[in-house]
Amino acid sequence: MRVAVFGASGYTGGELLRILVSHPVFTVTTATSREYAGKPVYMAHPHLKGLISLKFVRLEDALSKEYDYALIALPHGLSREIVPRLLDSGVGVVDLGADFRLRDPSLYREWYGWSHPNPELLEEAVYGLPELHRDEIRGARLVASPGCNATATILASAPLVRMGARRLVADVKVGSSEAGSKPTRGTHHPERSGAIRPYSPSGHRHQVEASQELSWLAGEEVRISMVPHSVGAVRGAFASVHAQLEIDESELWRAFARFYSGEPFIRVMQRGSYPNVKNVLGSNFADLGFASDPSLPRATGFAAIDNLMKGAAGQAIQSLNLMAGLEETTGLLLAPISPA
Ligand SMILES: NC(=O)c1ccc[n+]([C@@H]2O[C@H](COP(=O)([O-])OP(=O)(O)OC[C@H]3O[C@@H](n4cnc5c(N)ncnc54)[C@H](OP(=O)(O)O)[C@@H]3O)[C@@H](O)[C@H]2O)c1
Repeated sequence: MRVAVFGASGYTGGELLRILVSHPVFTVTTATSREYAGKPVYMAHPHLKGLISLKFVRLEDALSKEYDYALIALPHGLSREIVPRLLDSGVGVVDLGADFRLRDPSLYREWYGWSHPNPELLEEAVYGLPELHRDEIRGARLVASPGCNATATILASAPLVRMGARRLVADVKVGSSEAGSKPTRGTHHPERSGAIRPYSPSGHRHQVEASQELSWLAGEEVRISMVPHSVGAVRGAFASVHAQLEIDESELWRAFARFYSGEPFIRVMQRGSYPNVKNVLGSNFADLGFASDPSLPRATGFAAIDNLMKGAAGQAIQSLNLMAGLEETTGLLLAPISPA
């Protein structure tokens, strides 16, 4: 099956290509970039030299080419323009940006500052977290893949919500690759290396999608506050999510194990051992853990992911496998690298 990658010269685009060069079913036939148009893929991604012989094309030219699926790794606000055209041509779409993640169109004005031009597609789009929406993803034309901070937060929170938590606080640490490949004053190496600091501590955009999904899971409103922190690592996102729940750790262990039973990419830690992003880097795994202090009371869920994999490209291909009727793990059972 032929796949186009829009925004293929960026970090998540590169990670999509890295997975797809060894995928047994999908072949990348189209890859877009403005800066590298006409140049071979290895010019933007030297690590892929010898593994893919394809040249980048401009986005406008890619729209008239033929492929079965499109993976869109463009900055927010661009896919809302091209997704309707792709769907009209019969192409299945997984969008890694935020343009189709929120079901309520009014939230786009509130959180992103623009009115959504295709509110009917928000009804159709499926939030691409297979652990919550596997069956809907299977039949979808349009999947909106979650943000990395939202993925870690939702995975750490879901069993707590199932146990009754309705007010949660998420503390997220994330590496510099989450900010994309174009450096800014706040994200380029001298500013970011060695840093540990909060950003968007009140009103981070991923908070609203986490709240949407956890409320859907609970069947009533769940409020979650998210405070992301930049840390000096390149990859990795780690969420610690706290709730006021009086529950002991053996009960919490059962809640996590039950919720994620049979999930191919979730690894629940044993009581007393905790996840570490170093154990998931380069892979689509999410390592989950938990802790509690019933005397306060407090229950905490932990999630460690690679932001570019389970937080972006890996999860998008997990959804793509489902959309195409393949085994969900096809081409994705990459072991984490260690030491990393
Ligand atoms: N990084 C993460 O951890 C992460 C996690 C989950 C989701 N996401 C989402 O994935 C998307 C891509 O993120 P990223 O980190 O890969 O960003 P990135 O490294 O900055 O890559 C962006 C890509 O889009 C292209 N692009 C930028 N502006 C464009 C324009 N106006 N027209 C056409 N193409 C344009 C860029 O190539 P040219 O400039 O050469 O055209 C590049 O290929 C974003 O929506 C992001 O929120 C990222």
